[in-house]
Amino acid sequence: MDPAARLLAWFARHRRELPWRRRHDLYAIWVSEVMLQQTRVDMVLPYFRDFLVRFPTLRRLAAAPLLDVLKAWEGLGYYSRARNLWRAARLIVENFHGRIPREYDRFRELPGVGEYIAAAVMSIGCGAIVPVVDGNVLRVVCRWQGIGGDIRLAATKKKVLSFLQGIIPEDSPGLFNEAVMELGALLCLPRNPRCEACPLQRDCHAFLRGLIASLPARSRRKPVPEYRVALAVIRRGDKVFIQQRPENGHLGGLWEFPGGKCAAGESPELAVVRECREELAVGVEVLAKLAEVPHAYTHFKIVLHVFVCRLRHGSPRTGQPHAWVKISEFERYPFPRANHKFFPQLNEYMNGTRQTADGRRRTVGKSTKSQVPNSK
Ligand code: ADE
Ligand code: SF4
Repeated sequence: MDPAARLLAWFARHRRELPWRRRHDLYAIWVSEVMLQQTRVDMVLPYFRDFLVRFPTLRRLAAAPLLDVLKAWEGLGYYSRARNLWRAARLIVENFHGRIPREYDRFRELPGVGEYIAAAVMSIGCGAIVPVVDGNVLRVVCRWQGIGGDIRLAATKKKVLSFLQGIIPEDSPGLFNEAVMELGALLCLPRNPRCEACPLQRDCHAFLRGLIASLPARSRRKPVPEYRVALAVIRRGDKVFIQQRPENGHLGGLWEFPGGKCAAGESPELAVVRECREELAVGVEVLAKLAEVPHAYTHFKIVLHVFVCRLRHGSPRTGQPHAWVKISEFERYPFPRANHKFFPQLNEYMNGTRQTADGRRRTVGKSTKSQVPNSK
């Protein structure tokens, strides 16, 4: 058997049962690949199920408000994926009678559809003979073929692609692509690959020459920058002030608390007061520190310093959409994942220090600590 046939035979026996593999639905395959592009399978599973319940067809997705789509995506990260998928769905309804283009070049032109998504969806869903190259595939092929270039370089990717173009079977390109990705996910792991079970072992360069530890090659990454971000929870009765981020840019369209980066040498307490003055034209006073939350994005890290603040003068003015909302209404607003990390403290603070409408005191959690924790 040639290597492609061995891969396919291995895949047929060992592939995971994943919900998108049970469906012959181009839309579902597309949704799954968009979610999988930057996110692990186990994380994607519940989101994929919920997404297809909320938006079972492309037309339903196109008809939904963007905010509902972002809400369904909340916590998955890389929200431009959701916005682009929604925009693409609307374009398809407007221009292609709701039918997803089944041809690589036309599909590739849609918003958010890069080489990876186009190759994955068109090969798996439509039989296009186009290899997929993602991180797993790069690792497998660089080891298997002894390709030594840095995997972040375009030249390395090109070598991998042209090797795969030579062996991708014309009658089952989608299964072949999935098989290579699956091999990378299940056997050809970054550390301690399970070569003993691998169908490529007998002609794998890295295995035969003992080069597994040095392939794929990767030059050192620069350390990512770290920012301190100060946020204000401005309270008015049982409501807090939130605003929507601009559509374009990092976490676009999501909701947030006012605030921003601390300047060099500036304390978070001062930064939050300054940001509220600059962003909202209000004077605030810091009452307490609610939480300190570290969070890592791909290209930088942040620590959120969250403060409970009181309005001293002015009322918030901003060009962005904004709202005073109750905690119980938060589920209607998509927030960045990092914000969810301090929602328990916020919840405790909002519920613990005030009477509910019916006069009873609601207890949140079992904590006997003070309701507004000071800085940790
Ligand atoms: N990663 C992304 N898409 C995949 C797929 N279709 N099969 C296995 N792993 C994947
Ligand atoms: Fe990866 Fe080992 Fe298989 Fe080579 S033999 S492709 S290193 S799992």
